[in-house]
Amino acid sequence: MVTRLREYARTLRMSEVVDLYQEVEFQDRLQYVTDLLLLMIEGRKNRRAQRLIRKAGFPNTNTLQGYDFSPVTFPSGLDQGSLTDLMFLEKQENVLMVGAVGTGKTRLAISLGVKACLAGKTVKFHRATDLCNTLLELYPAGKAGKVNRDISSADLFILDEVGYVPFSKAAAEMLFSVISNSYENQSIITISNLEFGRWNEIFGDERLTAALIDRLVHHAHILTFSGVSYRLRQALSRTEHDDETFLKDTTLAQT
Ligand SMILES: Nc1ncnc2c1ncn2[C@@H]1O[C@H](COP(=O)(O)OP(=O)(O)OP(=O)(O)O)[C@@H](O)[C@H]1O
Ligand SMILES: [Mg+2]
Repeated sequence: MVTRLREYARTLRMSEVVDLYQEVEFQDRLQYVTDLLLLMIEGRKNRRAQRLIRKAGFPNTNTLQGYDFSPVTFPSGLDQGSLTDLMFLEKQENVLMVGAVGTGKTRLAISLGVKACLAGKTVKFHRATDLCNTLLELYPAGKAGKVNRDISSADLFILDEVGYVPFSKAAAEMLFSVISNSYENQSIITISNLEFGRWNEIFGDERLTAALIDRLVHHAHILTFSGVSYRLRQALSRTEHDDETFLKDTTLAQT
């Protein structure tokens, strides 16, 4: 009997039924079939979400659980609830996360990205410098298409660490072209430790920088992050070197 079930299930492309049919309590026929189908739907949703998370290229799979929002200042028009409900994604709006090192920008962006994947959305995560290096390497051989397509076909593109390393002219132009393609087609979360006034320093070209910022800021919510680095706090508590004065000095230096 199980052999026939396996064969019919394969024909109907629902092979998982063989593993699941014994997991559902039987009360009556209608309830049994309905509950079995529901279990299959949930399993498929879950597997799709895990696939989307793998494809997104996150460096880890942080979630919003345990995230401390105290370093984050929200702009008018966005609050914690609407950010974590991913309303910006539905409206194809952008989010810019700007501020001090170690205050949770990357962690928050990844947590939102993972949540988007769980909701069935496609996400692509890249660190700016890694992306530029990859594109510069693949472009001359005409092989940059897949990377670009993966980004432009995603519902959400997360671009991390803009501003940590200055770009060459070719890299800056490459990044500009990626962001131009994304503009108004998808949501972008851009993360930087530099305020816009200093982006010239990393892109090197004033006109290109102005055009880039213009695209990113349009339909965008700007979140600012401030305070002491969590990495520093953790290091201090690990070494039990809980020096209040040192923390205060560092906070002043970072603001
Ligand atoms: N607000 C926060 N709530 C909980 N954990 C945090 C928070 N901020 C930072 N952390 C923890 O501190 C570490 C550094 O955080 P994260 O990488 O997100 O910082 P960042 O702002 O992206 O820093 P950088 O500018 O150096 O890239 C991570 O382990 C993260 O989990
Ligand atoms: Mg970061």
